[in-house]
Amino acid sequence: MLHEGNVVVQVRDLYYTYPGGIEALKGVNLEVYQGEVLAIMGENGAGKTTLVKHFNGILKPTRGQVLVKGIDTRHASVAELSRIVGFVFQNPDHQLFADTVYEEVAFALRNFGYPEHVIESRVKWALNLMDLWKYRTRSPFSLSVGERKRLTIASVLAYDPEIIVLDEPTAGQDHLQKEKISEIIHLLRLMGKTVVIVTHDVEFVTEHVDRVAVMARGKILAVGPPQRVLCDPQLLREARLVAPQLVKLSLILRRHGILNEGEYEWRADKLAPKLIKVLRSGADGGSPGI
Ligand SMILES: Nc1ncnc2c1ncn2[C@@H]1O[C@H](COP(=O)(O)OP(=O)(O)OP(=O)(O)O)[C@@H](O)[C@H]1O
Ligand SMILES: [Mg+2]
Repeated sequence: MLHEGNVVVQVRDLYYTYPGGIEALKGVNLEVYQGEVLAIMGENGAGKTTLVKHFNGILKPTRGQVLVKGIDTRHASVAELSRIVGFVFQNPDHQLFADTVYEEVAFALRNFGYPEHVIESRVKWALNLMDLWKYRTRSPFSLSVGERKRLTIASVLAYDPEIIVLDEPTAGQDHLQKEKISEIIHLLRLMGKTVVIVTHDVEFVTEHVDRVAVMARGKILAVGPPQRVLCDPQLLREARLVAPQLVKLSLILRRHGILNEGEYEWRADKLAPKLIKVLRSGADGGSPGI
């Protein structure tokens, strides 16, 4: 559920320049609301990862400000912020280090001082959730890329942070595991967590997020519900994003007068009845108009 007004991350006029001189963020403003699932989309190099790395203080603003639950990230350590913001890196190898899958997940819990029996039950829960319990004694580096990614997700879920940032969680996952990640996002939503997902997966976004922030060249071009943002052909062109298949179909149907101007459907179960009606009227002697 979206609770506007209850802002958990506030990004104010954020600029970030990498030590080499690349200006990756150029005046980003964004509010993340408690309990929402927010997607950040945009082409390679748009600045998505740079932006979310500010949420747990791995990067500090060159200019501007990021507040996480009211805490200015410039004055807080990564360890402190990580308790609030769990971060799953784009590249799992930047996160993994333990000798076994079990220890990988247990690490943060040990750091936070949980008793051993709690650690055990949390590790078991998280590894089962991610289909990895069977690998608990293996080295994280012996896992496939997709499994490693799921392991980093398990490590974060195990210690139950309030805000969860997932940088491209579905990359490298097969269909079944993507479904699993969808279910987990659904579960996190039910638990009242705030989830920020960086993704290129436009179909995934249409089904699972409340709002989308579209980035290009270090700026946010638009923020809004996916129904609006992903149906704006000009915005999609500007951000070099591809429309979801059903939006493409809706745009074609509009041109042929089957959907009204400004009308679109991007859910198959909503679009299908309209198409069936047109096709039926065609079969009955009327013109389907295609
Ligand atoms: N460690 C770094 N040092 C210098 N420049 C960097 C570094 N990391 C990223 N950049 C540059 O900053 C810009 C934004 O990169 P960023 O990784 O935030 O993009 P992104 O939107 O996450 O892209 P992708 O979809 O490829 O993950 C790019 O021009 C990139 O080359
Ligand atoms: Mg990235």
